[in-house]
Amino acid sequence: MATIRDVAKLAGVSVSTISRYLNKSGYVNSETEQNIKAAIDKLKYEPSVVARGLAGKQTNTIALILPDISNLFFSDLARAVEDVASTYGYTVIFCNTDDQGGKERNYIEVLKKKYIDGFIFASNTLTHEDTEALHKRSIPYVCLDRGPSDELSSVVRSKNLEGAKMAVLHLLEMGYTKIAHIHGPQHSITAKDRLAGYEESVRGFAWYSPTLMEAGDFRMASGMKAAEELLRRHPDIDAIFAGNDLMAIGALKVLHRMGIKVGEQVGVCGFDGIQTTEITEPELTTIAQPIYDMGALITRILIKKIEGSLVEDQIYELDVSLMARASTYRRR
Ligand code: RIB
Repeated sequence: MATIRDVAKLAGVSVSTISRYLNKSGYVNSETEQNIKAAIDKLKYEPSVVARGLAGKQTNTIALILPDISNLFFSDLARAVEDVASTYGYTVIFCNTDDQGGKERNYIEVLKKKYIDGFIFASNTLTHEDTEALHKRSIPYVCLDRGPSDELSSVVRSKNLEGAKMAVLHLLEMGYTKIAHIHGPQHSITAKDRLAGYEESVRGFAWYSPTLMEAGDFRMASGMKAAEELLRRHPDIDAIFAGNDLMAIGALKVLHRMGIKVGEQVGVCGFDGIQTTEITEPELTTIAQPIYDMGALITRILIKKIEGSLVEDQIYELDVSLMARASTYRRR
């Protein structure tokens, strides 16, 4: 016997949309109504009392799965998601995974049982089986900043590769002559794209060497460690491009400790555009991501999917911008 999920799948909408249609408990556009009616007829679906009960479980709640809420990049994203969700009458549950797949899967299982209406994943650990399971239960999900760009979801992220090239070009234009790179964890598409942008920009220089790149984990301490290692390996580097602001701030701290004048002797550029970059000494040059716009756009896309609009899933890459500040100002 056909279930409510079979109807949702055939109609190409979520279970919560079927529930709104069955219970007349919210807006369903006419095209979607037609699709649902056709699916019910084709499947000869009889909504049972249980199904109605289940169907009535629209919770107007979405989950935002983040890897590190203590990083202002993600808390700024969360701000945007919550602002937009609340204008549509949705509440947001924030889940912090520390980039641990097990924690993420646990959140997914718990929230599925609480009839969450949809998920936004800013995640590196989301697996194909996770997304298949959500699709099978017709629970809409979208990906933010990272995540699988599979055919079942939309992704909103920045133009990371172009942003990295923008950073290197700025450092070259400011007169720096040997640029190192502290990259983020390579399981993150954002870190991979920024590393690629750096390498594409410097590979042709005589001073280029793979030893000018050092790994970090997107946290400040790893930026400190990487900067120390790079300066030990290449005492003559005069600029560091870090794959995010927290690692760049770590590099700033190391340069200060070594008595090196940031800007004048060694330029430092980060990536994200979090507010902390405005209070460092000197202020940090960075490639600013459109963090609020990213969060706002992905939330609107998810809510459209939840409410039954047939959304064509695609990857949205938003422009980034150079915030040139004192950390890359080199008095000539
Ligand atoms: O600072 C955290 C980093 O992880 C950001 O650059 C963001 O793009 C995410 O990928």
